Amino acid sequence: MKLASRMSRLGTETAFEALARAKALEAQGRSIVFLGIGEPDFDTPEHIIDAAKDALESGFTHYTPSPGIPAVREVIAADMSARLGYQASASNVIVTPGGKPIMFFTILALAEAGDEVIYPNPGFPIYESMIRFAGATPVPMQLREELDYNPNIDELRSLVTPRTKLIIINSPNNPCGSVIPEKDLEAIAALANEVDAVVLSDEIYKDFYFEGEHVSITKFPGMRERTVVLDGLSKSYAMTGWRVGYGVFPEPLVEPVSRLMTNSVSCTAGFSQIATIAALESSQEPTRAMVAEFRQRRDVIVGGLNALPGVRCRVPKGAFYTFPSIAGTGLSSQEFEHRMLADAGVSLLSGTAFGAGGEGYVRISFANSVANIEEALRRMERVLAG
Ligand SMILES: Cc1ncc(COP(=O)(O)O)c(C=O)c1O
Repeated sequence: MKLASRMSRLGTETAFEALARAKALEAQGRSIVFLGIGEPDFDTPEHIIDAAKDALESGFTHYTPSPGIPAVREVIAADMSARLGYQASASNVIVTPGGKPIMFFTILALAEAGDEVIYPNPGFPIYESMIRFAGATPVPMQLREELDYNPNIDELRSLVTPRTKLIIINSPNNPCGSVIPEKDLEAIAALANEVDAVVLSDEIYKDFYFEGEHVSITKFPGMRERTVVLDGLSKSYAMTGWRVGYGVFPEPLVEPVSRLMTNSVSCTAGFSQIATIAALESSQEPTRAMVAEFRQRRDVIVGGLNALPGVRCRVPKGAFYTFPSIAGTGLSSQEFEHRMLADAGVSLLSGTAFGAGGEGYVRISFANSVANIEEALRRMERVLAG
């Protein structure tokens, strides 16, 4: 069968394949510690599950309007306004099945052949994949360890051209755990205004801070009109499988993105949308408790990684990932990933799963218990010392 040529431009997220490989080994009886997973290992809080059950029983089993149930869009707008630095309107909110469609639809709606899109590298792999799929030119913005995995603003300035259509930022960052300093957000905002570029600000980890508080680029002048904010429930409420994401869009994008929703998935599941109200309007204590637990795990993993021969690890400020350099082990990133799975029974991801800029690094998720993290560190030490 001959596929459409556009399919050759579509990448993937290899995390899903790595997980399948590790699960297959586990099914054969091997003991595996999973540090490759990009989702909280917590359960969805009970009151959110109850809200979804009530919604199912009261008939939220049908199509909803493509951009979302109006009352849900209102609650999301109110929740996000507190962070964005302006009063978001429900009419600018679109609810999608997970946060990923926000990037998919934004890139499809804006970028085409001849356009350039700047994206973080290392970064979430779907950005580059979608930019290529849309026929636009991906322009990697290198995140460097020396800068705590943040963009160098002078370098970014040199990447911006009159063809720059979109600048993608992600803070806190997957895979590096970095947080873009406020002064750099301000500089990026000024650049976007200067060249009339749209910004896609992926803020899905906005609750996962180990120091400081979340700042959105939307608070800077001119940004409300040119920023798409990507957010959702997946990480903050341990709800990856519920598929609830949402975006706040500048006015001109609302109708086109709603049309993309109608053309692709029609709408987000109604009961998942209703559960969103419970997630956002009730106590945020479960999220705070989860982040406090992640902070402890971060300290264990960073200390342990820095004690391994050939490994060097910075302290992540947010999200739940570390991105240690493994160059000193003499292994490539892929070799390190494969060796750790095969010989240590530890599942983690090669830095190159996040773009060419990830060579020399691996991503380790600390979405696992302290006991399991300590076990993984012992196993890795045995392999690296042997
Ligand atoms: C940076 C980033 N953005 C977006 C997403 C997508 O989240 P969702 O599962 O809600 O589609 C992820 C998930 O891993 C992510 O890491």
